[in-house]
Amino acid sequence: MSFHPKKLLLSSFLLVFIVLSLMGTACSSNRPDPIVSGTELSMFITTDIHYIADSVHDNGSAFQKYWKTGDGRQLNYIDEIVSAFGSKVEKEKPDILIVSGDLTTNGEKESHLALAKKFKEIEEASGTSIYVIPGNHDISNPWARGFKEDKKFKVPSVDSSEFKDIYKDFGFSEAISRDNYSLSYLAAPSEDVWLLMLDTCEYYLNDKTNTPVTNGELGENTLKWIEKCSKLAKEKNARIVTVMHHNLYNHSSRIHYGFTLDNHINVENTFRDNGLNLVFSGHLHIQDIKYKGEEENRIYDIASSSMVMYPFQYGVLDYSPESGFDYKTDRVDIENWARENGKTDENLLNFATYSEDFFTNASFAKAYNVVAETGLYSVIEAGYMAETMKLLNLNYFRGTTGLIKEQIENSSGYKLWIAADQVEALEAMRAYILSMIPHNDIDNNKLQIK
Ligand SMILES: [Fe+2]
Repeated sequence: MSFHPKKLLLSSFLLVFIVLSLMGTACSSNRPDPIVSGTELSMFITTDIHYIADSVHDNGSAFQKYWKTGDGRQLNYIDEIVSAFGSKVEKEKPDILIVSGDLTTNGEKESHLALAKKFKEIEEASGTSIYVIPGNHDISNPWARGFKEDKKFKVPSVDSSEFKDIYKDFGFSEAISRDNYSLSYLAAPSEDVWLLMLDTCEYYLNDKTNTPVTNGELGENTLKWIEKCSKLAKEKNARIVTVMHHNLYNHSSRIHYGFTLDNHINVENTFRDNGLNLVFSGHLHIQDIKYKGEEENRIYDIASSSMVMYPFQYGVLDYSPESGFDYKTDRVDIENWARENGKTDENLLNFATYSEDFFTNASFAKAYNVVAETGLYSVIEAGYMAETMKLLNLNYFRGTTGLIKEQIENSSGYKLWIAADQVEALEAMRAYILSMIPHNDIDNNKLQIK
């Protein structure tokens, strides 16, 4: 039997078309050629940037109040933080930069447009390919606000198709397959390593609830699409790195409802059945690694800390065909960036101290006020208890509570918190403090997967 070369070519095209159609939306795009098999690969991973465009606020009293009374986000310097991180990307030139959602403060259209412009500049200067997915704050957000003098006002957010269009050059147009039921997509930047970028958000409910719905899930149809993606990767001998905004596992005994996927058991089963063993998530703003399963079928969920909060960390994932994946964290050196760029703002020039003080002072004050209001403790005791909260919270966000566990457990403040089990007014904060004590010796800033 003989084959006509043209017929052979035609049947190859048909096969590719059928495979892609079966998987979801087949994508015609400006995809660059994938990095060839056997090549080492470097990736940076960041999350929860919560960018806010300068054009959305005037730095007036309403904006000052907003960021100062928040959860520790250093929004007053977000543009400088992203620029300093961009400069790091330009210097190190990783092959890939992954951003796992909550790109903007509250989904303001102007913030999305300004961030996409920054991403374009970073890609052009570094040659790095950026891949994004949305977080729960990014799409159809009823809380999108601008700030002028002492007033807040509504500003436009974006719907899912606008989001896809604004970030088309950061994943969507490079996808080899897209899910028909969400903004999830599969990208193949290298022949060896593929990225399964999953949209876990429920923005379609935001109008009804008038909030950016915190919870997340992966629908049944998306899980079926994930199976098809995994099969294709297996056929092509590619490893998959899975990225989503919500967490696969509970990273806190206290804060997990709305953070861990609502249908995490189904999702975990699908991931395990399909060999998806390395997951990156965000949403919690803390640095924490959890895993489940025996070594041969273990799944890791690495929750990355937020780029807008102390200690301004990001993940570095290196892939080598010989040794597999090597993960560690690094920090953005904002002080150095400020010096190199001739900045004269003392806060920027001493950013490590300035931002640590901002973060720890807020934790200390919150705890001190709650304890003092009970009227049950002396000034010195309240100070000890606030100091415990400050130290734990600081290390919790950078993923290093394991290093101070003994010091905390021996401290006067911690002993007072333990003894406060009957003080109703301290119940919530006491539970939060106890939940930060690590129950295993996992290094949250380092991991090797062969
Ligand atoms: Fe966030």
